[in-house]
Amino acid sequence: MRIHMAVSSILHVLLLLSLSFQCCSSSSPSLNSGFSLSVEKPEDVILSPNGVFSAGFYAVGENAYVFSVWFTRKPTVVWTANRDQPVNGKRSSLRLHKTGNLVLSDAGQFNVWSTDTTSSLPWLTQLNLTDKGNLVLYELHPQQSEILWQSFDFPTDTLLPGQQLTRYTKLVSDRSLTNHSSGFYQLSFNDDNILSLLYDGLDVSSKYWPVQWLVSWDAGRTTYNSSRIAVLDSIGTFNSTDNYGFTTSDYGVVMQRILKLDSDGNIRVYSRRKNDPWYVSWQAISNPCIVHGLCGANSTCVYDPIEGRKCSCLPGYRVKNHSDWSYGCEPTFKLSCDKNETAFFKLPGVELYGYDFIYKKNISYSDCENECLQDCECRAFQYSLNNDGLFQCYTKRVLLNGRRSPDFRGTTYLRLPEAKRNNVSFFADEEFAQDDGHVCSVKLDRSYAERHVSSFLKFFLWFSVAIGVFEVLFISITWFSLIRTKQKSDGNQQGYNFLSPFGFRRYTYSELKQATKGFTEEIGRGAGGIVYKGVLPDQRIAAIKKLHNDNIGAKRDEAEFLAEVSIIGKLNHMNLIEMWGYCAEGKYRLLVYEYLEKGSLAENLKSNTLDWTRRYNIALGTARVLAYLHEECLEWILHCDIKPQNILLDSNYQPKVADFGLSKLLNRSDQNTQNFSMVRGTRGYMAPEWVFNLPITSKVDVYSFGIVVLEMITGRSPTMMGGQSDEGEEAHNERLVTWVREKRKTTTSEEEGSPSSSCWVEQIIDAAIGSEFEVEKKKMETLASVALKCVEEDKDVRPSMSQVVEMLQSHEDA
Ligand SMILES: *[C@@H]1O[C@H](CO)[C@@H](O)[C@H](O)[C@H]1NC(C)=O
Ligand SMILES: *[C@@H]1O[C@H](CO)[C@@H](O)[C@H](O)[C@H]1NC(C)=O
Ligand SMILES: *[C@@H]1O[C@H](CO)[C@@H](O)[C@H](O)[C@H]1NC(C)=O
Ligand SMILES: *[C@@H]1O[C@H](CO)[C@@H](O)[C@H](O)[C@H]1NC(C)=O
Repeated sequence: MRIHMAVSSILHVLLLLSLSFQCCSSSSPSLNSGFSLSVEKPEDVILSPNGVFSAGFYAVGENAYVFSVWFTRKPTVVWTANRDQPVNGKRSSLRLHKTGNLVLSDAGQFNVWSTDTTSSLPWLTQLNLTDKGNLVLYELHPQQSEILWQSFDFPTDTLLPGQQLTRYTKLVSDRSLTNHSSGFYQLSFNDDNILSLLYDGLDVSSKYWPVQWLVSWDAGRTTYNSSRIAVLDSIGTFNSTDNYGFTTSDYGVVMQRILKLDSDGNIRVYSRRKNDPWYVSWQAISNPCIVHGLCGANSTCVYDPIEGRKCSCLPGYRVKNHSDWSYGCEPTFKLSCDKNETAFFKLPGVELYGYDFIYKKNISYSDCENECLQDCECRAFQYSLNNDGLFQCYTKRVLLNGRRSPDFRGTTYLRLPEAKRNNVSFFADEEFAQDDGHVCSVKLDRSYAERHVSSFLKFFLWFSVAIGVFEVLFISITWFSLIRTKQKSDGNQQGYNFLSPFGFRRYTYSELKQATKGFTEEIGRGAGGIVYKGVLPDQRIAAIKKLHNDNIGAKRDEAEFLAEVSIIGKLNHMNLIEMWGYCAEGKYRLLVYEYLEKGSLAENLKSNTLDWTRRYNIALGTARVLAYLHEECLEWILHCDIKPQNILLDSNYQPKVADFGLSKLLNRSDQNTQNFSMVRGTRGYMAPEWVFNLPITSKVDVYSFGIVVLEMITGRSPTMMGGQSDEGEEAHNERLVTWVREKRKTTTSEEEGSPSSSCWVEQIIDAAIGSEFEVEKKKMETLASVALKCVEEDKDVRPSMSQVVEMLQSHEDA
């Protein structure tokens, strides 16, 4: 639904713009020296020979005009001469002087913009608009004309296919959806030759893409190529000299395309066929809260795939300007330097990125708190566990780039006056930011629509109905484009093989057959297919899953399969198994994943290799990735088959969830019950909704997760409990759950109902965990209680995955 809203609001803007613009009847292909275009004559427009582009005066407000180049049909501006200084609707003009200077004057008086060009041949210059949308000032020579100036060298916020972004140029976003003057975001090559996004805000500036903590090599970039050129082509490939590149989701066909740095700081590629509306075919950042500055200072950003991005002030702060969050929030208190009048307010899962004043590693909580107390200007500190198991401390004097995410592992402690601490609210004043920072390029599962939708969005939802039609178009375009590419590239496999330059690729069946030595070494078997170990042509060891034909369904067409696979291929989370590629050939469908030596959680539970810390970390990592799949990534994905066999372990015993997204590949919507039962999970881990035919929501994964955690704690497998049984599928897991609940009840009631007692945990604990858990009884009790909440019968009582993460995290550094 995000795409609906984004595209529809863009459409809405386009619609408004088109009303203020009347099309040209007597336009000419060029402007000769000595002539001018007048703002008062709408027909004074330069038209490209193919008619696709127009250049002329464009209304941006009441009596305010800019000189622009736009797509003629359903006008979309792609270049502007004077975005920061619109001209008057009376007596303004663009004149090509006989000296060769092109000058835009406001109300016949001030020059607001010029090309500052001179020609050695007076009277012999000409302004033309090319078929590609480039406005070019030529000096006319008998043999070959010389280019004096061209708009492609001075982009505003948009790149057209073929237009290069170079070391000398940058894209600058609009200020907002309605204010087209220069905004806060820039796309350019930095001093290290890396193409990057920069927030250049009211007081501060910072880079946010590619993510800062990734060294350029890890982000797949190279710093050594100093040519600094990036370009999008008309079939949807983007390449940059720092080795960055991508292909759009509709890659392969010539279409109208633009790459635009939007006012929300994200880069998107928009595509359309002739008169259709634009749709998003690629975007750089899927979680808009990653973009710096959107919610301003002293605030946090939170992202929800349905409702979009929301801003809220930190507790004790209030928003400065409700209609423009980039101004941020201001304190409602005065901080005292006196330690006794200061208190800290705990904000789990809140990250304030960057601007660390003091950084210390391996430090106790009280020392970290002291670091902040000793600095009168310290406003907050972050205390978190890093990867080597040491606590680290960051103190902050400014509170910027605030973000709340179930994925963030640290806790922020906000400094407040003692008197204030108990009467501040926790993110109560949450608000939608003014623009739509949430764009999704794929369709969403409708069963989520029942969630609350604000009235702000309702307006846009009506548009989305219309956009639904375009989605269908989009899918068929993708389909046709793939077919066409295939036909075109039969002699040239390259174009078809590599869907993306990041290594996610298409393999041929014979390649994979060879890699697995004819599918001999079976390493697993699950819903949908058999997994084999193999060695890829590039020597990487892979797990190759061959999907059963009957699951795919005979009707399942290749393009649809590709569309789903490429979505899964784009997911990226440290607790998600990486998909390297796929094969779709004839009746074969295979998926290629990274191979993990340590095997699955199921095997490790059996062989007793997991101590308490490992089990806890596996639970937390799995919860994080499910929260990501459910709530943070580009598209919602339900796993639908969480079980110990699908949780693999890397060399550090960190969990990596496998088989996600398979529910999509296996025809879930097909009401054919045989297929349906294949996908609905595994006995022992299935939520009651499956059995009672209730609506399937993300809570089915929450349930399965709860069962897996109970299994990790107790060492009892829900499929084994009670031995053989004919009582139906749900009986097994019910037995495990009931057993744990009973233990809790009887143990706690013996002790007069003291709820803090962790004795009951001792009663259920897996003997293999040993005695080391003694120290962390509290943590274990939390985990067990959370697991019991997850397995509630009623799905509405179960917490969401991000709530699970928050509950577990709240004990992290206690
Ligand atoms: C647009 O934004 C600029 C820069 O922030 C500001 O100066 C100008 O007043 C805004 N224009 C409108 C119409 O709000
Ligand atoms: C809030 O921001 C809007 C849009 O930039 C601006 O027009 C308005 O004047 C601002 N209001 C205040 C009180 O600063
Ligand atoms: C943010 O809060 C600090 C005090 O914590 C204040 O000094 C600063 O002015 C605030 N920033 C904005 C943009 O209001
Ligand atoms: C961390 O600090 C503790 C206590 O000061 C010390 O014993 C330990 O060796 C430190 N660990 C590292 C890796 O520096």
